[in-house]
Amino acid sequence: MPGIPLAILSITLLATTALSFAVPHLSLAPNIPSIPSLPSIPNIAELLPDQPLYTRPTHPITTILAIGDSYTAGEGANGFPDYIASSANCDRYKQSWPLQLIADPAWDSFNGKKPALVFGACSGATMNDLIANQLQLGVPNASEAYTKIGKPQIAVMTIGGNDADFFGAINACILHLSPSLPCSQKLTSISAHLASPAFATALATTLATILTTARAAGGAVPPESFELYVAGYVPFFNTHNPVCDNVSFSIHGDGVPKLTTELRKSLNAVVEEFNGVLEGVARAMRPWGVFWVDVDGWSKGWGGHRFCEHTAAEGEVWFWGGEGDGGGDVRRVFHPKGVGYKVFAEAFLEAVRGNR
Ligand SMILES: *[C@@H]1O[C@H](CO)[C@@H](O)[C@H](O)[C@H]1NC(C)=O
Ligand SMILES: *[C@@H]1O[C@H](CO)[C@@H](O)[C@H](O)[C@H]1NC(C)=O
Repeated sequence: MPGIPLAILSITLLATTALSFAVPHLSLAPNIPSIPSLPSIPNIAELLPDQPLYTRPTHPITTILAIGDSYTAGEGANGFPDYIASSANCDRYKQSWPLQLIADPAWDSFNGKKPALVFGACSGATMNDLIANQLQLGVPNASEAYTKIGKPQIAVMTIGGNDADFFGAINACILHLSPSLPCSQKLTSISAHLASPAFATALATTLATILTTARAAGGAVPPESFELYVAGYVPFFNTHNPVCDNVSFSIHGDGVPKLTTELRKSLNAVVEEFNGVLEGVARAMRPWGVFWVDVDGWSKGWGGHRFCEHTAAEGEVWFWGGEGDGGGDVRRVFHPKGVGYKVFAEAFLEAVRGNR
């Protein structure tokens, strides 16, 4: 999810060490225990003037558009050999969930054939970046950093994590590179931003822009049968056991701050707050063809595979920590591995299949 901040991070880290995860200095205990009540959702009909309500599609899906940020680009995935060179700084990976999604054999049974993928997601993308760079009408070209969108029937994505500045939270509370605020202040600031009507409006406006642009592309017949599937992010930590209370991921190797249970809960809470706002917006836009995909609650999902599990053998954690394989080491930190992206692929497939 991190974009510009991650670029800064990579320079700094590569200049220091291969991330031995130990921790930053935390002078104040984080204090973000409860999720505030959700902001009011904007009036969606006003954002989609003259747009007919969604109608269920009757044609197979021939093209899927995958847009959004690093979680959709597949940052990290199965390591650097998995990196798609033509994606340049967008950091798209072969074991990203959109590529795992279209490879699933189940398509043949409910769609008649596997769809093609137009893969425009870009690591670091904010909502504004997505609108500016990832929604160009025209013929797709996978060799370009920003492909045109072609004629998709559905779009799939994650977006908003960079706007929320999750990387700022990870920096301030865990890595402690050169954070602009102490951890507790950073989390308070992010939480207030997520709770603001402006944030929900920005999400809704982004989703509305995607819908109107994609309907106009002409791949969905009728246009109002276009479907937009959107997921949130996965809380990073197990918070039910003390296994990490004495562990630090600080890049400075000074052992502070510790990944205390309280800190882990606070970081999960901002992710859950984000997911709650996005889910609320997506559900309000359901009448226009937006579908919420719950990648955290997905039954075959993340339980047992977050940071700080009892079974925290490195192979069982489905996020990248500080392990190195010679490339892309830092940008992928706190992103899923290929096996974690598989959960996203399965959850999206189930959601799409449910509409057929
Ligand atoms: C696709 O993009 C690449 C890189 O910009 C370019 O060299 C190539 O000619 C493009 N292909 C088509 C068919 O336009
Ligand atoms: C926690 O870390 C400190 C410093 O490394 C060490 O002395 C102590 O034994 C550790 N405690 C536990 C419970 O692992």
